[in-house]
Amino acid sequence: MKIAVFASGNGSNFEAIAKSMNQGEIEGAIVLVFSDRTDAYVLERAKSLQIPVRSFSPKQFANKVEYEREILKELEAKEVELLVLAGYMRLIGPTLLNAYPNRILNIHPALLPEFPGLHGIRDAFEAGVKQTGVTVHYVDNGVDTGPILAQKRVNIEENETLASLELKIHQAEHQLYPEVIQDVIQAIKKTGN
Ligand code: GRF
Repeated sequence: MKIAVFASGNGSNFEAIAKSMNQGEIEGAIVLVFSDRTDAYVLERAKSLQIPVRSFSPKQFANKVEYEREILKELEAKEVELLVLAGYMRLIGPTLLNAYPNRILNIHPALLPEFPGLHGIRDAFEAGVKQTGVTVHYVDNGVDTGPILAQKRVNIEENETLASLELKIHQAEHQLYPEVIQDVIQAIKKTGN
């Protein structure tokens, strides 16, 4: 299974997925890392793992359709079959959604449908809930609204700080995302869609 990872920033989830692949836990290969930010640290991580990178900003294009068409060209050239969003801070538009129906995954740092949006970890922490977690879901045209594939719970302890919670959430993400990606690949291989 040929996979493209989309990321805008740090790339720790990308690295966890790449590591799982190297260990043979995911039957697939990352053939492209795409970023909408040319200075994203994920690009450095990918280069040091010899994984091809492409990066351009939507600002370089007249509109989102043109931007995504350019991405699609890259994906088609590399025969990408599955898109994995890992901290990609943009909504996916119809160009990519239609080209990859049920083939775009995202990870969100909260237990959806609770705390969608940009600040899932902080919003849960500030709400004072006792539990939060991470969610892997299919991407649709909403903000963190697609069908949920899996969740992992994380307790918020009495003495928890935002920093310690962030650490726990990221650990949960790095464990859950590779597992779910492998499950999705298995399901695609079995059913063909
Ligand atoms: C993760 O917390 C993910 O859930 C969210 O963005 C963050 C990306 O982290 N969508 P990283 O770039 O993978 O380190």
